Order: sequence, then C-alpha cells, then structure tokens
Amino acid sequence: MRASVLAFASVALAARPFINEPDTGIDEQLSAFAANKSLPSLQRLAGLPDFDWAARNYMSRTNYTYYRNGAAGEWSYRNNLEVYQRFRLRPRVMVDITRIESSLPTTLLGYNFSAPFFISPCARAGYAHPDGELGLVKGAAEEDILYMPSLYSNKPMKDIYAARGNNGSQVLFQQVYLDDPSINATAKLFKDIEDVGAKAIILTVDSPGDGVRHRAARDGQGSANTGFSLFTWEYFQQLQNLTSLPIIPKGIQTVEDAREAVNRGVKAIFLSNHGGRQLDTSPSALEVALEIYNEDPEIFKQVEVYADGGVRYGVDALKLLALGVRAVGLGRPFMYANVYGYEGVAKVAQIMKYELTNDAANLGVGDLKTIGPQFVNWKSTNAWFS
Ligand SMILES: Cc1cc2nc3c(=O)[nH]c(=O)nc-3n(C[C@H](O)[C@H](O)[C@H](O)COP(=O)(O)O)c2cc1C
Ligand SMILES: *[C@@H]1O[C@H](CO)[C@@H](O)[C@H](O)[C@H]1NC(C)=O
Ligand SMILES: *[C@@H]1O[C@H](CO)[C@@H](O)[C@H](O)[C@H]1NC(C)=O
Ligand SMILES: *[C@@H]1O[C@H](CO)[C@@H](O)[C@H](O)[C@H]1NC(C)=O
Ligand SMILES: *[C@@H]1O[C@H](CO)[C@@H](O)[C@H](O)[C@H]1NC(C)=O
Ligand SMILES: *[C@@H]1O[C@H](CO)[C@@H](O)[C@H](O)[C@H]1NC(C)=O
Repeated sequence: MRASVLAFASVALAARPFINEPDTGIDEQLSAFAANKSLPSLQRLAGLPDFDWAARNYMSRTNYTYYRNGAAGEWSYRNNLEVYQRFRLRPRVMVDITRIESSLPTTLLGYNFSAPFFISPCARAGYAHPDGELGLVKGAAEEDILYMPSLYSNKPMKDIYAARGNNGSQVLFQQVYLDDPSINATAKLFKDIEDVGAKAIILTVDSPGDGVRHRAARDGQGSANTGFSLFTWEYFQQLQNLTSLPIIPKGIQTVEDAREAVNRGVKAIFLSNHGGRQLDTSPSALEVALEIYNEDPEIFKQVEVYADGGVRYGVDALKLLALGVRAVGLGRPFMYANVYGYEGVAKVAQIMKYELTNDAANLGVGDLKTIGPQFVNWKSTNAWFS
C-alpha cells in the first residue's frame, strides 16, 4: 500500500516541471515589455518573482546569468525555492491580529530594524545598475532594514559606507571572504572594516572551494571567489581575537556546526547554502532549521539565528520564523530589484512587509514574536521528504 502511494507521488512530482517564476499572469499583462526589453513601471510589479521576470527580460544575458546561477545541476537552487510549499500552514481563526504591524520591528545584535528580514550579501551589484551597491544601501535606508554588503562589491567599501542614510548612522554588517588567509592580511581587512564603521563581520564559511557553476561557466561568469581557502574553528577563534566586532559564520548547514559555533561563543549564526550556488544538493536553510529544531532547539534561544535561500513570499519567511529564526535574508530578489535602482530595492522591502503582516494575520498570528512551530504542519506533503 505504502509503496503504491509513493510510486503515485513520485509520478505526480515528476510530472510537474520546475517553475522559476510561478504563473500569476505577468506574461499575459507585460509581455510587450519583455519583447522590447524595457522595464514596466514599478507599480505594475506585484510580487518578488516579478522582479526576477523583469530582470531576466531586461538585463544582458551574461549579467542576469551571474545572478540567477546555481551550482552544478541547480538541484539546491530549485529545492531552496520549492521547499516552502511542501509544508502546509495550520491557520488559526478568531485571533486578535489588529496589532500585527506593531510587531514587525525587531533588533539584530541589539540594533533596531523595521522588519525581521534583510539584504543578504551579494557580489557585483553593478551588473544590474550603474549605482551598484549604492542602490542597495539607499533602499535599505529608506525601508530601515539591514543590508550586508559583500566584500566583492563593485563599489569600494568606503563609498558604500559613505552612502549610509540616517546621517550616517545606518547599520551595516560587512561580509568577508578571506582570499589571503594570513593573519596579518586579515587583521588589515578587519581594521578597514572597523574604520568604515561596520557593526559586525559576516564570515562566509560555506565556500572553502570554488562553486561548480555550469550555467555561468557557459557565459564565462564564474564565482566571485575561487581557489581553496583555509577555514578551521581554531582559526576562527584567532580571527575573533583580531576585532571587537562580532564575527557571524554564514553558511551553517548542520546542527553539529550550529552547536560548535555556539560553543565557540558566537553571537549569531547564519543558516545558508549560499543560494544554492556553492555545493549542489546541500540543504535549504528551512531543512537545516528543522534539523536544529528537532535535535537542539535551545540553539534558537542561545544565539540569534539568521537564514536565507529561496525566500520569495511572506509565507516563506513565516515558516522560518516559526522555527525560531530571528531574521531571514533575501539575495536575488534585491539584486534583481536593483535594475530599478534604490526604488526597486525599497519596493521589494515594502512588498515583504505587506506580505509578512497580512499573511501572519490570515494565519492567526497576533504578534510576530510569538509565532511558533505549531503554525506549520511539518509532515511534508512531498513523499520524498519524511
Ligand atoms: C549574485 C549573487 C552573489 C552572491 N555573492 C555572495 C557573496 O559575495 N558573499 C556571500 O556570502 N554570499 C553571496 N551570495 C549568497 C547570498 O548571500 C545568499 O546566501 C543567497 O543569495 C540567498 O538565496 P536567494 O538568492 O535565493 O535569496 C550571492 C548570491 C547571489 C545571488
Ligand atoms: C515597450 O513596450 C511597452 C508596452 O507596450 C511600452 O509602454 C513602452 O513604451 C515600450 N518601450 C519602448 C522603448 O519601446
Ligand atoms: C530601539 O528601539 C527601542 C524600542 O522602540 C528604543 O527604546 C531605542 O531607543 C531604540 N534604539 C535606537 C538606537 O534607536
Ligand atoms: C553588465 O554589467 C557590467 C558590469 O557592471 C556593466 O558595465 C554593463 O552595463 C551591464 N550590462 C547591462 C546591459 O546592464
Ligand atoms: C605580521 O605582523 C606582525 C606585527 O605587526 C609582524 O611582526 C610580522 O612580521 C608580520 N608577519 C608577516 C609575515 O608579515
Ligand atoms: C585570544 O586572545 C586571548 C587573550 O589574549 C588568548 O588567551 C587566546 O590564546 C587567544 N586565542 C587564540 C586562538 O589566539
């Protein structure tokens, strides 16, 4: 009996092709813009996948491909997008949700932000717009959300920090790779980061090797960081000795490493598979968060947990928050939105706020801080995922 149910499910799944931008009518309405390679007005974009659609039709193929690319067969890229819809919500009714909007603001490492989502660090924002990262920093300021600039930005770090809003008090966390892992080179890099005024260092630990990227390789658009780099927990501790800024490991993908990071005294961990760009068949952040929830749920109380990958809708973010994630990151949606410059970036943040609060209300969540795992049926509807 069970075998036949599984066989049926696998046939049903195999029959459904992967859809990068689920059809909600955008082609019907806006295909003329795609045909003449121009951008529809921002008012006409309704959801985050629309920005992928707009960027795909507007950007040069090589520039778009660098953003869109995943590792190898892109199984992790697709899984990141599809994993959220495998879990059904458990909406409660007759709940007072009238104060949901006031529960949107949060703190990250003690800094105030208007919402529990942020702009993940992404290299080469200049591929979408001549303002590059300045569009991201300004869009983040407009909407009072956190932005984490990438070390491999097109604009120099000092220009990005000089563009901070709020009279220069806008909070940014700086992402780093350690190309030259010598302690002196790193000491210099960390000093520069302190000098520009970053409030934390996001150390990407999921990329000790080059990302195997077939789609981008065809266009000569490899990964921004190549070669083998040294990462050990002992070295991590030496790095933390170099700076008073908290160092947050980005790319934690197992409960073991989450626990190790906590034991090493980190203030936050960042669950991520690099947007499916680094190691194909690595798990989505939702699967990692579930593993931590099942095996060591205290971790969500011991440190701040950030997570990213495939978040495109309010409900995606709610599923991560339900497990105890403090804030979710979005990479590609903001990069694509930057074809419009900072106004596109701000619009994506506005859409996320609208969706998060209204989805929470419809889910029967009166306060985002109290959402818990009981709002999701964690028995997956996908037979391949038990
Ligand atoms: C174009 C692009 C460049 C990226 N560059 C970096 C980077 O420089 N450093 C880093 O830690 N992660 C990088 N990432 C990964 C993102 O920080 C983030 O983990 C990922 O984009 C989240 O998945 P999403 O794009 O589905 O939201 C990059 C992602 C993209 C799409
Ligand atoms: C492209 O098509 C759209 C939709 O028909 C139109 O509004 C716009 O003016 C066109 N742009 C150019 C540059 O031809
Ligand atoms: C952060 O928000 C809290 C609560 O609204 C407020 O008391 C505090 O002054 C804010 N801190 C900063 C630095 O704005
Ligand atoms: C692609 O990116 C490059 C590098 O930033 C930029 O010079 C070029 O204008 C971009 N092309 C398009 C069509 O946006
Ligand atoms: C590293 O820096 C220290 C202290 O500034 C210095 O004594 C040492 O010679 C440097 N090492 C290298 C390999 O440059
Ligand atoms: C870090 O600094 C402390 C205090 O100076 C020292 O005891 C410790 O050995 C250092 N750890 C590493 C890994 O360098």
